[in-house]
Amino acid sequence: MSRALIAGNWKMNGLKASLSQVEAVAAAVGSGHGDVTALLCLPATLVAAGSESAEGTALRIGGETCHHNVKGAHTGDISAEMLADAGASHVIVGHSERRADHGESDAVVSAQASAALAASLVPIICVGESLAEREAGRTLERIESQLAGSIPDGVGAADFVIAYEPIWAIGTGKVASTEQIAEVHGAIRAWLSGRFGASGVETLILYGGSMNPANAAEILAVDNVNGGLIGGASLKAEDFLSIYRAAI
Ligand code: 13P
Repeated sequence: MSRALIAGNWKMNGLKASLSQVEAVAAAVGSGHGDVTALLCLPATLVAAGSESAEGTALRIGGETCHHNVKGAHTGDISAEMLADAGASHVIVGHSERRADHGESDAVVSAQASAALAASLVPIICVGESLAEREAGRTLERIESQLAGSIPDGVGAADFVIAYEPIWAIGTGKVASTEQIAEVHGAIRAWLSGRFGASGVETLILYGGSMNPANAAEILAVDNVNGGLIGGASLKAEDFLSIYRAAI
C-alpha cells in the first residue's frame, strides 16, 4: 500500500500484563516500514506505559476517546492534552460504542475532534450505519450526515482520519463485502473531495469491523481503503502484526 494506517482498538481490554503484546508489536515494527503507520489505541490506564514500551520505535500509541473540554469539573473524563502528555499521537472519537453507550452526538464528536487537534493529536473520526439503516437503503445518507456533523470546521483534509465501521460488522465476525466497502469508501472520498477539493485525497479512510489476518489483504486492496481499525484481532501481537504486514 502507499500511505496507510493500521490501527488497533483495544476497547475495554488489557491489564499491565498485556504490555508484553505492545512490546512485541513495537519490536516487530522497529523503525517502521515505508509509509505504513502502526498504531495501538489503548485503554487510558495503559497509554503512558504503552508509550514507554513503544519508545524508540515507529509504533504509535493512541487513546480511545477524549473529552471535548480542555480541563475542568468532568469527573472520570480524560482530556486530549492528558492523552498527549501520556505519549499518545492519535485518539479515536465517535466510535459507535461511545455513541451508543454515552449518547455522543455528531456535535459532541466534532468538538472532541477539535479538542484532539488543539492538543496536537490526530483524531480518528468513526462513522457507520446500523443494520436497520443498511436494510432500509439509507447507508450513504447516514454516513454523509455523520461526516457533515462530526468533522469540525476549519480543519485540513490531512489533519484527521476517517474510520468506516458498519455497526453490524463490529465484533460479530460478519465482515462487510468488498463491494459494500468499495461503495461506502468511494462515497466518503467523493464527500471529502466535495468539502476539501483536490486535497480530499489526503484523508486516510480506514475500514473497521471483524478485520482479521485472513481477510485483511483482500480488504486493504479495495479502492479508497487506506488501512484498518481493528478491535478483537489487535489484542494479540501476532494477529495485529499479520494485518500490518498485509499492508506493507
Ligand atoms: P472488531 O475488529 O472486534 O470487529 O472491532 C472493530 C472495531 O470496533 C474497531 O474500532
